[in-house]
Amino acid sequence: MKKKVGFIGWRGLVGSVLLERMIFKNDLSKINIKFFTTSQVGHNGPKINNKKFGILENAYDLHKLIELDIILTCQGSTYTEKVYFNLRKLGWKGFWIDASSCLRTNKNSIIVLDPVNYNFIIESINNGCKTFSGGNCTVSLMLMALGGLFSENLIKKIFVSTYQAASGAGSNYIKKLLLEMGILHNSVEKEINKNNFSILKIENVVSSLLKSKKFLRRFNDVPLAGNLIPWIDNDNGDGNSKEEIKGEFETNKILNLKFLDKVIIDSICVRVSTFRCHSQSFLIELKKNIFIKEVKEILCNHNKWIKLIDNTKSDTIANLTPSMVSGTLKILLGRIKKSNFGNKYITAFSIGDQLLWGASEPLRRILNILIKL
Ligand SMILES: NC(=O)c1ccc[n+]([C@@H]2O[C@H](COP(=O)([O-])OP(=O)(O)OC[C@H]3O[C@@H](n4cnc5c(N)ncnc54)[C@H](OP(=O)(O)O)[C@@H]3O)[C@@H](O)[C@H]2O)c1
Repeated sequence: MKKKVGFIGWRGLVGSVLLERMIFKNDLSKINIKFFTTSQVGHNGPKINNKKFGILENAYDLHKLIELDIILTCQGSTYTEKVYFNLRKLGWKGFWIDASSCLRTNKNSIIVLDPVNYNFIIESINNGCKTFSGGNCTVSLMLMALGGLFSENLIKKIFVSTYQAASGAGSNYIKKLLLEMGILHNSVEKEINKNNFSILKIENVVSSLLKSKKFLRRFNDVPLAGNLIPWIDNDNGDGNSKEEIKGEFETNKILNLKFLDKVIIDSICVRVSTFRCHSQSFLIELKKNIFIKEVKEILCNHNKWIKLIDNTKSDTIANLTPSMVSGTLKILLGRIKKSNFGNKYITAFSIGDQLLWGASEPLRRILNILIKL
């Protein structure tokens, strides 16, 4: 019999990308799906390939949720916090699949990224695991990119600088970025279209606007257009942002590495004004000196989604950009070279779609593993 699956958060960025993939891969035909909402109870559910999916159910109604075999949520941590524990207290024994960070640190959950930790996932399911979280977007993308070096146990330490797209902060952030771009453009439109435009005047107007109280009040936030923000998520109180501490914790949890084998990871995470896809620059300390040719072979052989970009100017600027990978499952990997730090150090730069491998695809794949049980 088909499993009863409740989908919460399907309207949001991660949820709608996930739904699109599920339709494309014909996953909906394998399950009995019900759509839930936190804000539109009683509205019509989605219409997919001319099939209507009924009225939206209340995502907080525990009596409705308890009937489900699997709950798939892309709603966010606040929702999970409010519902998950109460549902388990009521004795619900179903599978919970979650895009948010809420349960990633929970000892009863595992973080899923099956091209990297398939055996651990299966072992955990056999041991009774019922709670599955998707990893942090940059962590999952890093593991997809550097998986070969991790699986060969070649990595000692990594320092990562991230360049994270606006959409990483949800639907509203894309809207904010576009509105800001529009306002900035409008403010200099006349001048920019003159043949003898004054670039200094344009730059002055735009820079003053970005700093103005009016602009800050309009968005109630730091501008992202023409800017960057070197802090993502809350303050961890130790000099790190919450986003930065996820790197080491989640990597070691996904790889199921015990204390002595743990890989050290440190980072600075930055929000940039790209729309979609997260980029990351790595400085990697290997456990031994390996030729770059061999490093590339190990990286390429790990999974079929990696696309290696030659470390030349023309290949890099043409092919190693967020716009080249947006909306695809490819993991771009370039700038691989030995570092001046020493012969065990290499650098690399990777880009992947954070809404696919960084969020929705690992969830879609664990759903497919669970519905076959
Ligand atoms: N964005 C990423 O790149 C990313 C990557 C990895 C993990 N995550 C995690 O995934 C979770 C969901 O993130 P998200 O980026 O998908 O959040 P989001 O786009 O802000 O959507 C979250 C929810 O907001 C509600 N909503 C209200 N107004 C909406 C509108 N106009 N359009 C669409 N939805 C609207 C929807 O719920 P109702 O239908 O119930 O109202 C929707 O499911 C978060 O925990 C996030 O941390 C995100």
